[in-house]
Amino acid sequence: MKTITENPKDPKIEQLRELKAKSKLGGGKERIKRQHEKGRLTARERLELLLDKGSFRETDPFVVHRTHDFDLDKTKILGDSVVTGWGTINNRLVYVFSQDFTVFGGSLGEVHAEKIVKIMEMAMRNGAPVIGLNDSGGARIQEGVVSLGGYADIFLRNTLASGVIPQISVIMGPCAGGAVYSPALTDFIFMVRGSSFMFITGPDVVKTVTHEDVTFEELGGADVHAEKSGVCHIAADTEANALFLVRKLLSYLPQNNMEDPPYVPTNDNILRREPALNTLVPNDPSKPYDIKKAIQLIVDDGEFYEIQERYAQNIVIGFSRLGGHCIGIVANQPAVLAGVLDIQASEKAARFVRFCDSFNIPILTFVDVPGFLPGVNQEHGGIISSGAKLLYAFCEATVPKLTLITRKGYGGAYDVMSSKHIRGDINLAWPSAEIAVMGSEGAVEIIFRKELAQAENPVQRKNELVKEYREKFTSPYIAASRGYLDDVIEPRDTRPRLINALEMLSNKRDHNPAKKHGGIPL
Ligand code: HXC
Repeated sequence: MKTITENPKDPKIEQLRELKAKSKLGGGKERIKRQHEKGRLTARERLELLLDKGSFRETDPFVVHRTHDFDLDKTKILGDSVVTGWGTINNRLVYVFSQDFTVFGGSLGEVHAEKIVKIMEMAMRNGAPVIGLNDSGGARIQEGVVSLGGYADIFLRNTLASGVIPQISVIMGPCAGGAVYSPALTDFIFMVRGSSFMFITGPDVVKTVTHEDVTFEELGGADVHAEKSGVCHIAADTEANALFLVRKLLSYLPQNNMEDPPYVPTNDNILRREPALNTLVPNDPSKPYDIKKAIQLIVDDGEFYEIQERYAQNIVIGFSRLGGHCIGIVANQPAVLAGVLDIQASEKAARFVRFCDSFNIPILTFVDVPGFLPGVNQEHGGIISSGAKLLYAFCEATVPKLTLITRKGYGGAYDVMSSKHIRGDINLAWPSAEIAVMGSEGAVEIIFRKELAQAENPVQRKNELVKEYREKFTSPYIAASRGYLDDVIEPRDTRPRLINALEMLSNKRDHNPAKKHGGIPL
């Protein structure tokens, strides 16, 4: 048998190996050491954790910058400050870029931007997600306006790719100034607690302009963006955990907008009844319960991938599966602010609904909503526009839409939450559902104001009227008698009923009128 022997002395091969090794070293051993001392991985180590073992194929390892100003031409580093290419996650193709802080602080100049744009265009042509690992000092100061142009080139691709391929950003270090807008244009932002931050202007500028004293973490750390601004969708404790969670998220998503999300066979019985659901909703309508318990009992193996878990907790959003089929869940959370819709909750859910609709992910909506949050702050903050965003998102969505009313569906919020009237495909309710213009107490106070004022015992009379009103109007049967609900079901049957409905809708076709784009009240 003929054996193939290497010729280690071939100078061309030797040169290639040397150049590749040099390129792989980025900013050099000393800077890699500094990166590790900060508790951070290098750009390449991150890619190794993110991608399937051995799947990474690099592009542009020999690219160098073209700048002469400020003596920059004396330092040229092969590959410049970003590592780009493609690989696989659970055997599915993804495109990646990973900013290399060891090279000019990961700063973005002309060729750094060109490398990213190349990857994004390949991803769009070939229909696969792009994942960006961000760790950068921002625009490369020595390159001036050229680096600003580079950012704009990326922003444009982010926008064109939006709704075509999933785009995910993982912030693993600094991300400041206009640089934040590329992640902000992508679908999901992951951050790492204690080591990543995002802001438009840093603590020093804030101090100068507003005289506020604030640390990096307080201004733009992972917790702040996960709880207060909502900019961060998933906050992880470590870089490795963030990358693991990215892999998990992708398991729910299709590769592009022309595909359906992956079907993942399950051992969880599709006919499983869940008696605990029959007693989940308290009899007293003012008592809270945790809607996540209902979700957990209904979906495959109780697995729910929650998005923006700690932001606007009065609404719950995330991905799950029913009978192996991926679904996006939107659920009012009666355990937080009684599940009321406010500005933040409306916007959180609206964006998620649009993402699901873009990527052919059916939407399951759990409804228990007392209405929109009253208040001067809400009104002056634009709850009208924010609520309209959610309404618009549900109205325009053409993916299969399943709705389950567990308890309250009051007022405008009943219409908004994927009601039959706005193209809900299958609308179900539990017997505990109360569908009305408003809650019984408020309704009685308005329509019986005169009678109550004249009553001998106003409290007793009010209680009688509330009971009467509740019996008459706040049951699911009036809505069901008009066909606004397709059925009222026993809670324990929810899983089999939803799976059956989802499968019945698997060939759903629905289209909106042809238009350039609508005027969603942004
Ligand atoms: C060129 C940069 C750089 C930049 C860092 N470096 N940022 N080089 N352009 N923007 C270089 C440093 O000179 C240093 O090089 C190396 O990267 C590491 O930086 P350090 O400062 O030593 O690191 P550290 O102490 O960890 O601080 C990280 C940092 C800081 C917080 C990111 O470097 C910093 O504040 N950089 C400037 C950030 C900034 O203002 N950028 C512009 C934002 S405006 P050596 O050779 O010494 O190792 C912007 C506009 C975008 O980005 C607009 C888009 C539309």
